[in-house]
Amino acid sequence: MPIKLAVPKEITPGERRVAIEPGVADRYLKMGLEVVLEKGAGDAAYIVDSDFPEEVKFAEDHLALYKDADIILKVQPPTEDEIDAMKEGAIVIGMMQAWKYPERVRRLQEKRITSFAMELIPRITRAQSMDVLSSQASVAGYKAGIMGADLSCRFFPMLTTAAGTIRPATVMVIGAGVAGLQAIATAKRLGAIVSGYDVRSATKEQVESLGAKFIELSIKAEGEGGYARELTPEELKQQQAELADHMCKHDVIITTAAVPGRPAPKIITRETVERMRPGTVIVDLAAESGGNCELSQPGETVEHNEVIIHAPLNVPSQTPLHASEMYAKNLLNFLSPMITEEGELHINWDDEVIADSCLTFEGEIRHEPTRNQIEGGAS
Ligand code: NAI
Repeated sequence: MPIKLAVPKEITPGERRVAIEPGVADRYLKMGLEVVLEKGAGDAAYIVDSDFPEEVKFAEDHLALYKDADIILKVQPPTEDEIDAMKEGAIVIGMMQAWKYPERVRRLQEKRITSFAMELIPRITRAQSMDVLSSQASVAGYKAGIMGADLSCRFFPMLTTAAGTIRPATVMVIGAGVAGLQAIATAKRLGAIVSGYDVRSATKEQVESLGAKFIELSIKAEGEGGYARELTPEELKQQQAELADHMCKHDVIITTAAVPGRPAPKIITRETVERMRPGTVIVDLAAESGGNCELSQPGETVEHNEVIIHAPLNVPSQTPLHASEMYAKNLLNFLSPMITEEGELHINWDDEVIADSCLTFEGEIRHEPTRNQIEGGAS
């Protein structure tokens, strides 16, 4: 019996991505897997059933699809109903967001499901092709540049017309990680004059290599593993003050600053917003973890003193086709090494990529921070 790989339609409101695309489905078939999709699984991403190879099978019923699947590919974490429909020992792979859904982790544990959280994959060179944080942050950064241009009352490029010459818009990107660098590149391509800022000094060269100006402040906060550390309250105050003058000179501000596992730093205060020119746009990509602007309302667009503050959620889902393609390839690169040439499952637990991304296995919560959160430190 071949391994049965199932891909359901995502049911989380607003989620338009899907965990497979036709080229990737073909690769799974060539690996000897049976591929079953829920009918219309990719419709919201404009990846339609007829695009898939003819060997791909389709199932009508959402929960029935889970019942006899050996491997289930998801974007959003499975709901408790979906977990209940899985057979014991099944494998589920997705962005599990364990900190947000501890009750689902419990259910995965109780049902002895093997679950892998793609967002826990270590960010080492070898795992770059599986790095969903990077692929989806690239999509979000691109989209943030477009959103800034769309909401602005100005053109991004310089225009020389019979009706006069228009000066290009000025864009400032705060947080020059994967999303920030993509936002800088997008705003540059649209013709804006772009500046970038980050607390990690390594980003100076990256910002400048995109043709943007790097804004240097006195605060430096390199953390571990290429990430930033959280600023102390005094440092944050100093940063807010030093950045305020720069921000007030820009037409569009895109913020992406994040520290893993912590609420987003509040870099833009109410006072700074109140000093900004009318028509200034803030696109707050950190809305998911609370936002970088004190006045951001996650999922909303608000106006304060003629400043537009846009704080979108699940931005990658707004470019669903390419976001799905990239995500599906990340999953393929993660899953392929677990399938032998004979099309059988072989999980190498000595591989740190596999071990670190495993959330639950054989009735245990394997990810230590999640175990501590759920079981109160007991192992
Ligand atoms: P992230 O989404 O956690 O943070 C975004 C950015 O916010 C980071 O650049 C961070 O330095 C910055 N930031 C945090 N606090 C700030 C503050 N108070 N003010 C201004 N900026 C602040 O990070 P992301 O984009 O997921 O990754 C960051 C870095 O991780 C990459 O640039 C790279 O060095 C490393 N990385 C390594 C990979 C690899 O080797 N395989 C893959 C992906 C990322």
